[in-house]
Amino acid sequence: MSNPVKLFEPLTIRQTTLPNRIVVSPLCQYSAVDGVAQPWHFAHLSSFARGKSGLVFTEATAVEARGRITPQCLGIWNDAQADALAPVVEFIESMGCVPGMQLAHAGRKASTSSPFSKRGPVPLTESDAAEAGAPWQTVAPSPLPVADGWHVPAELDGDDLEEVKKAFVDAALRACDSGFRALELHMAHGYLLHSFLSPLANRREDDYGGDLDGRMRYPLEIADAVRAAVPDGMPLFARISAIDGREGGWSLEDSVEFSRRLATAGIDIVDCSSGGIGGAPRFRSDDDGKPLTRDSARAPGFQVPFSRAIREQAGIRTMAVGVIIDPRQAEEILQSGGADLVALGRELMYDPFWPLRAAEALGVDPDFRMWPAQYAWAIDRRAQIKTLNES
Ligand SMILES: Cc1cc2nc3c(=O)[nH]c(=O)nc-3n(C[C@H](O)[C@H](O)[C@H](O)COP(=O)(O)O)c2cc1C
Repeated sequence: MSNPVKLFEPLTIRQTTLPNRIVVSPLCQYSAVDGVAQPWHFAHLSSFARGKSGLVFTEATAVEARGRITPQCLGIWNDAQADALAPVVEFIESMGCVPGMQLAHAGRKASTSSPFSKRGPVPLTESDAAEAGAPWQTVAPSPLPVADGWHVPAELDGDDLEEVKKAFVDAALRACDSGFRALELHMAHGYLLHSFLSPLANRREDDYGGDLDGRMRYPLEIADAVRAAVPDGMPLFARISAIDGREGGWSLEDSVEFSRRLATAGIDIVDCSSGGIGGAPRFRSDDDGKPLTRDSARAPGFQVPFSRAIREQAGIRTMAVGVIIDPRQAEEILQSGGADLVALGRELMYDPFWPLRAAEALGVDPDFRMWPAQYAWAIDRRAQIKTLNES
């Protein structure tokens, strides 16, 4: 009998079965060295598997060096980078969860400094530059900086377009070889592929710009090339910004059409985020240093309507993300057809055991059987003691 609680119903996508519908949204850690994962990455990603998130995505992992957001971003363009992730993959699998990788190219938003060091495009000074290993020449569909004071990107020409495409394919193959069992193409948040889609960033006059077909062409070519290269059984996600949220920008209608085309290209899940085509860091409403207010804070589930619309109109599975914080809220999104999967970011950083607590709250795991054996027996006792003391 299938589990009446949808959040804990497995989902099979091609040849990968996710044990539940809870996904760790990609979360940049700005802590890699030369693109190579460090002990921090092991601790960070493993904690989500201990907490039993069904699918654990790596942070945006650059397919080539100039595609890193910061010099400290994770990469997958060489074997040393892949090898360093092997223990992460092994641990996630050992917990019965699925390791996934988000493949990314930051485009004109590359070559910046991490949010917890010095904000914005590097270098701030020459000595900062020497220390940070940046700046480098960024690339984009058109030579338009993200905002005043940012690097002016070089326009990608025909050869470069092929080179970046090959970088995506090589990275995808390396990720498959490393044991990742789901891949996500980052087409959101103002990074390279999103900047091809949005009329606010793409001013090309060749086949890769102009009308919607032209602007979709390069991201779709990447999706096609990756799909053709990886094994048939490998699930492919695409994260999109469902709207730019700016006048004259990419719209939800565009996203529905793009999602139809992604489905044809063999993408299995559209991960529905939004925004980021402008300069400000996407997930800080307080980027000017002001505290959050009720108006600037995002409401719970604010991007779910995008996921619902794409799911209903484009005939493709979707993932909802953005201020999903409560187990009942997550369950309602799935039950009501708003998405096939829910991704959580900050809530899982705050509490990597969120899925196990959700299972308890929704009555799926009253006996703590889902917890890792190393903890389950002791936690069970803890619960019994608590009940006795309260009675
Ligand atoms: C610290 C941090 C790092 C992030 N890194 C990425 C990333 O690497 N790739 C990406 O697509 N989104 C990234 N995001 C966005 C998250 O994946 C997620 O979409 C967003 O935080 C909204 O979900 P939440 O409200 O559950 O946190 C990041 C967000 C945060 C807070």
